[in-house]
Amino acid sequence: MRLSTSLLTAATLLSPATAQLDKLAKQAGLKYFGAATDTPGQRERAPYAASYTQYDAILKSPDEFGQTTPTNGMKWLFTEPQPGLFNFTEGDYVADLAGTTRKLLRCHALVWHNQLAPWVDAANATWTKETLSAAITRHIRAVAGYYRGRCYAWDVVNEALDEDGTYRKSLFYNVLGEEYIKLAFRTAAEVDPGAALYYNDYGIERPASVKTAGAIRLIKMLKDAGIRIDGVGLQAHLHADVHPSEADLVATGQQFSELVREVAFTELDVRIEMPVNDTNLAWQTDAYQAVVGACIKVKKCVGITLWDFYDPFSWVPDVFAGQGAALLWFADFSKHPAYDGMVQTFKKLAGERKKKDCKKKRRAIRG
Ligand code: XIL
Repeated sequence: MRLSTSLLTAATLLSPATAQLDKLAKQAGLKYFGAATDTPGQRERAPYAASYTQYDAILKSPDEFGQTTPTNGMKWLFTEPQPGLFNFTEGDYVADLAGTTRKLLRCHALVWHNQLAPWVDAANATWTKETLSAAITRHIRAVAGYYRGRCYAWDVVNEALDEDGTYRKSLFYNVLGEEYIKLAFRTAAEVDPGAALYYNDYGIERPASVKTAGAIRLIKMLKDAGIRIDGVGLQAHLHADVHPSEADLVATGQQFSELVREVAFTELDVRIEMPVNDTNLAWQTDAYQAVVGACIKVKKCVGITLWDFYDPFSWVPDVFAGQGAALLWFADFSKHPAYDGMVQTFKKLAGERKKKDCKKKRRAIRG
């Protein structure tokens, strides 16, 4: 018994060798399974330098994660800290890592009301339609221009909706109305024609929610104006106790699929009311499995990105009091049961897909 437990522990600690989420996702028909990451030494990661070696081994493992996103480094605060003065150090860390480890890069985020450079907020009272439009255009030209050709996708506008599905009364909206959304997408399309241009938001995972309806209106508004939008990012910051079902996620994915070329789960995490116990870990497993199942079942769903993968680096405990353990690796680098849960869902659905393909082939041969 003791031997098998220690063998198990060894297997868990050797996770890179057993790495497989991206591999399995591809076998099940997705383009990628990825994890977002931040710059070493920054923010949530700062106190945990001792775990970087183990962390990096998992992050860089090609079969585990086929995609990455900078959790912070490409945001306005870091890329344009002073008007017209650009800094790509933080964004480059993750973009370069994606390059050297051959992962797809989702770039995040061009226009967002949060983590804006202080100078943008400070000028709040003095912005006019003209000056703010010029600032947005300059920002997108510089940042999307700098990363041109390297971003599989760009989150062009992030979180433009309020909880009731109306436009969020952000600085951008207050000055420009919905024109700022059009301007952002139009400019991004000019600057990086090869990137998939996404609208990205949280709370748009359920088919009947007013916010989902708001996102649908926003997409239609762009399309009616003849502006390109390629994808919708469902952030999927979920809660283990009250998460959407697979059927919900499929229904939502299908609604968006009628309007855009692709859908993705862009910031997946499933937070738990602490402390962790078997019950809430089982709920969490259900939630992760629902996302995997839905992404496979919605034809246009290209992939899933975790919002980091190692609990100590998660944003959750800082923002949601009393909640945590939202990712797939605990602090000691053992894996959450949700990891195996997802492996099972991937295998099951990949198997079903294979069977279907074989049937199709047989039918084709028979003519
Ligand atoms: C979070 C980061 O993970 C944190 O490190 C940061 O302090 C705040 O932002 N929606 C988004 C992400 O689109 O950019 C946010 O990321 C989480 C919510």
